[in-house]
Amino acid sequence: MMRMMVVMGSLLLGAGAVMAQQEVAVQQDNLMRGQAKSLYTVILKMVKGETHYNQAAVDAAIKDLEESVPRIATVFATNPKQNVVNATYGSSQKIWQNKADFDSRVPPVVKAIANAKGKVKDVASLKVAYNNINDRCNDCHETYRVKLK
Ligand code: HEC
Repeated sequence: MMRMMVVMGSLLLGAGAVMAQQEVAVQQDNLMRGQAKSLYTVILKMVKGETHYNQAAVDAAIKDLEESVPRIATVFATNPKQNVVNATYGSSQKIWQNKADFDSRVPPVVKAIANAKGKVKDVASLKVAYNNINDRCNDCHETYRVKLK
């Protein structure tokens, strides 16, 4: 009886650890999705002319990126050792082998956002800002993001 309780207890603990790791992966993915919403859903659609230029929406998206991007290094501090269920993209294990290099890909994005702030006035200047920011996002993705499907 005692042995069974110990076995059941450790099974529950194991399940708890797996769930916590999935939560970490989801948290990391949510951070990226939030940034994608600002850069792709708001900004890129205006650059492409799919939505009308809207200064307030541009300013809000840049502000959101300004707050969110510096959080990347901390949010990715823990290796979840698993991908989000059904995700299209996952994290390369290289992140946690070269965490300092991974973290060093963040400040250039922060700088590109700071450079854009207050300077975007129309579609033309938005396009310049979009390219500058997106290129820096991709500098990290090329090395540390894995396409799963
Ligand atoms: C320092 C590295 C790094 C930087 C900088 C970075 N990302 Fe990511 N991004 C990742 C990693 C790792 C993944 C894969 C794991 C995940 O989705 O959580 C990812 C995934 C994504 C995904 C796919 C999400 C999904 O599952 O569908 C999008 C979209 C994305 N990033 C957008 C952005 C945007 C936009 C920026 C710039 C504003 C950015 N990222 C900056 C590391 C980075």
